[in-house]
Amino acid sequence: MGRKFFVGGNWKCNGTTESVKKLVEVLNQGEVPSEDIVEVVVAPPFVFLPLIKSLLRSDFAVAAQNAWVKKGGAFTGEISAEQLVNLGIPWVILGHSERRALLNESNEFVGAKVAYALEQGLKVIPCVGETLEQREAGKTMDVITDQLKAIADKVEHWENVVLAYEPVWAIGTGKVATPDQAQEVHVDIRKWIAANVSEDVASQVRIIYGGSVNGGNANELAHQPDVDGFLVGGASLKPEFIDIIKAAE
Ligand code: G3P
Repeated sequence: MGRKFFVGGNWKCNGTTESVKKLVEVLNQGEVPSEDIVEVVVAPPFVFLPLIKSLLRSDFAVAAQNAWVKKGGAFTGEISAEQLVNLGIPWVILGHSERRALLNESNEFVGAKVAYALEQGLKVIPCVGETLEQREAGKTMDVITDQLKAIADKVEHWENVVLAYEPVWAIGTGKVATPDQAQEVHVDIRKWIAANVSEDVASQVRIIYGGSVNGGNANELAHQPDVDGFLVGGASLKPEFIDIIKAAE
């Protein structure tokens, strides 16, 4: 079976009750390909999760943007995977580069989070990607391999994983990766998984691209054979998110 196209909207730390309600209205009215063709997930800030879950159309799902690395307890300010499950939130984004860079989340920490969230029954979107400096030094795959290895070391079952390749230099910069650049890294990630996890997982796992995706560039990127969808930041807060979803067709 082919890999179903996947489009995630990462709202990051944006929105007010009023603005997210308006955004959901727009999303709920959008005409998009059927669920057989595309899986759509939106990730609001934690505080809006129950509201968005209650308002969002039933063919889109909701994701959290983070979860704690182990069972909840005395961890002020954190949200546990069990709490997300309890709220009926099916997905979580983990290891986003903003958290890796700004909150010093190490590869090992992200790997442990991914494993724990999966064990609790969440579906996980782990993010990997290199900085511009690392790319220019020819280290793109070294960096991504270290990030992937920390995840693969702890994960046994990959059915509930959608990997996001997000080059840091493309995030929020308007400098989208070219279709060739995205395809090249996605192929290399798949090869690494084939060699280090299994051929089966490599052929089945969805690898999505993130970084300055918009309504204008989504189509061409979507035509790359190893680009199985997108993780969208800025444009997921706008009506053009619907156009990005349509790139699945
Ligand atoms: O997680 C999505 C992301 O980091 C990409 O952000 O604003 O470049 O689409 P943006």
